[in-house]
Amino acid sequence: MTQTPPDHLMRQSLTRDYPRIVRGERHYLIDDRGHRIIDGASGGVGPCNVGHGVAEIVDAMAEQARTLALAHISMYENEPQVALANMLCEELAPPGFTKAYFTSTGTEANELAIKMARLYHLCRGNESKYHIISVWGGYHGSSIAATSYSGRSNRRDDLHPYFFPTTKLEPPYCYHCPYAKTYPDCGLHCAHALEQAIRRLGPQHVSCFIQEPIGNTLGCVSPPPGYFPAVREICDRYDVVLIADEVITAFGRCGEYFAMPTIHDTTPDVIALGKGISSGYSPLAATLVHEKLWAVFAEAERSLPGFTYGGNPLSCAVGLAAQNYIQQHNLVARSRQLGSYMYEQAHTELAELPIVGDIRGGKGLYMGIEYVQDKTTREPFPADMNLAGTIGDMAFDNGLATCPIGGGVDGILGDVNLIKPPFTIPQEDIDRIIRIMKATILQAHETVVGG
Ligand SMILES: Cc1ncc(COP(=O)(O)O)c(C=O)c1O
Repeated sequence: MTQTPPDHLMRQSLTRDYPRIVRGERHYLIDDRGHRIIDGASGGVGPCNVGHGVAEIVDAMAEQARTLALAHISMYENEPQVALANMLCEELAPPGFTKAYFTSTGTEANELAIKMARLYHLCRGNESKYHIISVWGGYHGSSIAATSYSGRSNRRDDLHPYFFPTTKLEPPYCYHCPYAKTYPDCGLHCAHALEQAIRRLGPQHVSCFIQEPIGNTLGCVSPPPGYFPAVREICDRYDVVLIADEVITAFGRCGEYFAMPTIHDTTPDVIALGKGISSGYSPLAATLVHEKLWAVFAEAERSLPGFTYGGNPLSCAVGLAAQNYIQQHNLVARSRQLGSYMYEQAHTELAELPIVGDIRGGKGLYMGIEYVQDKTTREPFPADMNLAGTIGDMAFDNGLATCPIGGGVDGILGDVNLIKPPFTIPQEDIDRIIRIMKATILQAHETVVGG
């Protein structure tokens, strides 16, 4: 008689079978059937920028584990933490960012950013400034507070009773413009909606505006040119702190170290980081503070409490090793070059396929493929088809892991597969990604959509 193995694991979804991944090798995942799958989503949700099994990072991790497990930031500082803060602020961050505060997750990094905005106003005697403005479709983390100011409708449903009041603007999503306008004739209506919201709320109550430079859970949606510079101006006019959630976009994912200053030519006040900072080898995140805020904190001698694993020596040593590896192998430039190659190939091979509505990206190895029922009207598929999820499962069976995203259009509708492979992937495997996506989209069109 065969025995059922014990299974006490509570999974995120009870309605899907999860492939079991037993190993990672460079840009491949290997499952328990021995199948090698291209890791087209860098660990599933995008952190593994350098790929799996990098010896330099593993060695740094082992060395740090032997040296010091923990010396908590409320009482001590540790060497990897100081070295990584110095590297971030002196070598990688945009000019003006003078301090880094370490946490373990992007959620915590964003919450610290929100707390810093509040502290900035408190230190300057503006007690009434507390309100947070964000955008629908944005995602800033999974705690109750972060869910409150995130705009992913399908993740918010069950938690409504716990939310505090925030204001959410319609997202700058030109392909499905919420205002039914067209860029550039729109006059950046979406950016000017921020000013309207601040004035309606009363500028004396508004603390900060938080947004991703490229909307990940919207499906790799970049705001149009001029959007963030306009937002910056509005924030300055009303003394509102601008927070860039660069948890996904930083450290080369968008072909640059940071997306908001380069792609959007805008300097935020606070930057939240995560994922790629340690390339997924250890939980690590950080909040970078601009001198403008730091000078105020320093003058008032005010700081903020952290978490048990904030500034964890092991994670910071891993972060240092990951960033050194990226620098030594010039991987940010590689992401930029291969990213534009992937985007061009996708346009050539996939854009004309039935159901492919939009292909977004071109800035680094980060791309979204959006499916629509009708290419002219851009009508999305019904949500209960879960088309992106189905295409994701089919692609996995065909040898490619993607990151499916649903609900970007209006919280319910919208299907996108995100492709964001490690920067170490060879060009011929970018070609394989495109071939697999082409075959899979045609397969889905025939078998699921009924083309
Ligand atoms: C843009 C963005 N911000 C914040 C987070 C939350 O990060 P974490 O899951 O590490 O808490 C994520 C996670 O996917 C993200 O994509």
